[in-house]
Amino acid sequence: MKHAATLNVNGMAYPVELEGDATLLSAIREDIGLTGTKTGCDDCECGACMVLVDDKPVNSCTYLALQAEGSAITTVEGLANGDDLSAIQSAFLDKGGVQCGYCTPGMLVSAHALLRRNPDPSEEEIRIALSGNLCRCTGYAKIAEAVMAAAKASA
Ligand code: FES
Ligand code: FES
Repeated sequence: MKHAATLNVNGMAYPVELEGDATLLSAIREDIGLTGTKTGCDDCECGACMVLVDDKPVNSCTYLALQAEGSAITTVEGLANGDDLSAIQSAFLDKGGVQCGYCTPGMLVSAHALLRRNPDPSEEEIRIALSGNLCRCTGYAKIAEAVMAAAKASA
């Protein structure tokens, strides 16, 4: 049975009809049509599906969509200001933190959350904060460099 709900994503209210067991990932991608958030393992392991719920990073593949009703949800699309990339998005491009790009939306969401709670993180703090986001391409060094560059740019 479907339930009528409203999800608040990137500051916009989206009316949706959701099964009780629908994940936030499927609601964002399939019901709302924001496909920046990626499906990877679908099992809470890789971080490709990371979004913010009330500013806290969550793996949306294992988070019930109905549980997010009433919360502010932020996806990777919400990090930019229209066509203007945020500091963290620009730094990922400048520093080569993006290769195939599959992990990038989740990485950006986790990095954004880190910089909000700690604007000047050490490399170790960055690696710990991003430890729930797996990347098969970059070896993580360029990603950590990008987060440090974004911190500097926003200081
Ligand atoms: S798709 Fe959600 S953690 Fe991998
Ligand atoms: S850039 Fe390819 S998985 Fe991270």
